[in-house]
Amino acid sequence: MASAYSFSVVVVAWITYVLLYGIYFNPVHDFAEASQSPTLQLEAEALLETRWWLRGASRALEIGTLSNLSYLNLPYNSFTGELPHSLANLTQLEELDISHNNIVGTIPKELRNCKSLRTLNLQSNNLIGQIPDMLSSYVSLKKLLLSHNHFTGSIPKYTCCSSSLDTIDLSHNFISGGIPFELGISFPVLSFLNISYNNLNGRIPRSLFPIIEVDLSYNFLRVQF
Ligand SMILES: *[C@@H]1O[C@H](CO)[C@@H](O)[C@H](O)[C@H]1NC(C)=O
Ligand SMILES: *[C@@H]1O[C@H](CO)[C@@H](O)[C@H](O)[C@H]1NC(C)=O
Ligand SMILES: *[C@@H]1O[C@H](CO)[C@@H](O)[C@H](O)[C@H]1NC(C)=O
Repeated sequence: MASAYSFSVVVVAWITYVLLYGIYFNPVHDFAEASQSPTLQLEAEALLETRWWLRGASRALEIGTLSNLSYLNLPYNSFTGELPHSLANLTQLEELDISHNNIVGTIPKELRNCKSLRTLNLQSNNLIGQIPDMLSSYVSLKKLLLSHNHFTGSIPKYTCCSSSLDTIDLSHNFISGGIPFELGISFPVLSFLNISYNNLNGRIPRSLFPIIEVDLSYNFLRVQF
């Protein structure tokens, strides 16, 4: 137990160190060089093998082997490629923040294995495909942040789900169709919903009215009182 704990602490400390080092000492993100790497996993391995990695570590770690990792926060980098399917191994992961990178592809189905997730932040990438219908796997999820991507399709009809979800941001995508009535009733503590800048149409369901902050601007919606 103690060793697992200190392992997580070392990993979190290392990632923080890398981030701070990157932000304060190496502000020029070499996007051109980064974009030659085909997958995020390779990117991460490359990062791990740089001089920032703890001295003495002899081999690269793969994301999928860090099965006790709780926080993986790598926003504002130049990660390219797709989300590695091996993220499914991170069953203890509580926070995944890979926002403001250049991730492409769809959200892998395997991500539903990360059942401990509290924050899923993939904002400002180039993700495509449907908004995943996997919230039912995430009983502890509080924040779902998927804005500024290229998601299409409609908002899934979530009928069950996380009783802790308080924030949903799907703004600035290409989501179409109507707003499902269920969206307003499936999440008892939902207090912030931003689905602005999409292609949503139809009526605004009354079930959204109790939500404290709702941004529906820049869509094709109608209100019927
Ligand atoms: C993860 O934690 C468990 C239990 O605390 C421990 O047995 C296992 O060795 C840890 N795995 C890694 C890769 O540190
Ligand atoms: C996932 O973890 C298992 C052991 O827990 C390991 O054998 C496997 O290689 C890992 N998968 C990846 C893709 O890292
Ligand atoms: C909703 O999202 C849009 C675009 O991402 C942003 O401009 C706007 O400020 C957000 N609305 C609220 C209430 O935060």
